[in-house]
Amino acid sequence: MRSLRMAPPLPLIFLLMTVGAFGTEWSVKYNQQEICALKGSTVFMNGTYTHPERLTVTETFWGIDPVPQVDLTDLSKDPDYSGRVECLTDEQKHFSLKLSDVMKKDEHMFGFRIITNEKERWLGTPGVQLRVTELHVETLYEVTEGETADLACKTTCSLTDPTFIWYKNGRPLTTKTIKNNQLHLQTVSSEDAGSYNCAVRGYQHLNSTAHNLRVRYPPKSVSVSISPSGEITEGSSVTLTCSSDGYPPVKIYTWFKEGGTSPVGYGNSYSIISISADHTGLYYCEAQNDHGAQNGTVMVTVKISLHLLSPSSVQNADPNAKDDSYTALQPTARSSDDVYHTLAAVQSSSPDDPYTALDPQSSSEYDTPANQLSVVEELLELERREVKL
Ligand SMILES: *[C@@H]1O[C@H](CO)[C@@H](O)[C@H](O)[C@H]1NC(C)=O
Repeated sequence: MRSLRMAPPLPLIFLLMTVGAFGTEWSVKYNQQEICALKGSTVFMNGTYTHPERLTVTETFWGIDPVPQVDLTDLSKDPDYSGRVECLTDEQKHFSLKLSDVMKKDEHMFGFRIITNEKERWLGTPGVQLRVTELHVETLYEVTEGETADLACKTTCSLTDPTFIWYKNGRPLTTKTIKNNQLHLQTVSSEDAGSYNCAVRGYQHLNSTAHNLRVRYPPKSVSVSISPSGEITEGSSVTLTCSSDGYPPVKIYTWFKEGGTSPVGYGNSYSIISISADHTGLYYCEAQNDHGAQNGTVMVTVKISLHLLSPSSVQNADPNAKDDSYTALQPTARSSDDVYHTLAAVQSSSPDDPYTALDPQSSSEYDTPANQLSVVEELLELERREVKL
């Protein structure tokens, strides 16, 4: 059991020191009075000591939160520290405590105790105050495109000469301005959105948790998809779906058809049930958020069903026959009501189509000359048959 008191009492030490009768006096000097360490790192608390030459040091150890006149517990015997501390001393009276895997609960005053062969012992007061910090990114959560933004790598104590490193989505940022613990984003663009974290050089494995930065921007890439994909045939149903980037996410979608001034629909999808050739055209989807709007377009082409036309007649359509056929197909030239009705069922035309004359009640369309010619062929074929009859 060690004495709880310093022996000899202070006045005597003072006397000894002043007189210097026995050589060197007691002293304990810590290299640093306060250490700021990253959680998870390893710290050294170093110092030097001297003792009166007449004494022989028998034991040295470290303890936490030393109180004068009270026994100090050897840290290496404390279950909270065993395995994490290493106490080193050398002949030059250097001493150091190596504490690994520093934790928040290690924030204590660490003191060095010297025990001698005599009753005398010494405590280096006040000791070394350990502070433990983690890194955390401090900035706004949202920033608008075009603004500037600063991200700070914060600590709760001052690290010694730290060099901060920044990461975006896990990759080191090399092109941005880093000053002290700040990352400066001069003119924020939508590409700056992402997950940021920071670290201190030499301790990259002890980086901060990620901070998600959001950038408010208007829609930029708006695209429209058609479902089902592939050929659109008359009578089928199609759905146009608009997708867009932008932040906050686009909630307002407005659909227009080329040539029309008023919207044909709202919402991110637009369905056309039982599509007809009239629906052929370019469709616009306007995506809008608080910061602006952007259009996406899609071409809808409705294929006319050719169920009344044989494949051979389509293939045999002869462009050179056009003029003659046209003449031959003048309504006045027709002689049969059957022919007329057959055509009425299959003929298609837009209002300026020369073949409109064939069928004033036309309700479906053909969109290519080849199709129109094949109708002509069909008609000629029917007329030829009639002639034979
Ligand atoms: C402290 O001492 C140890 C050796 O005991 C050495 O490795 C370390 O670099 C020293 N640290 C400082 C900060 O002086």
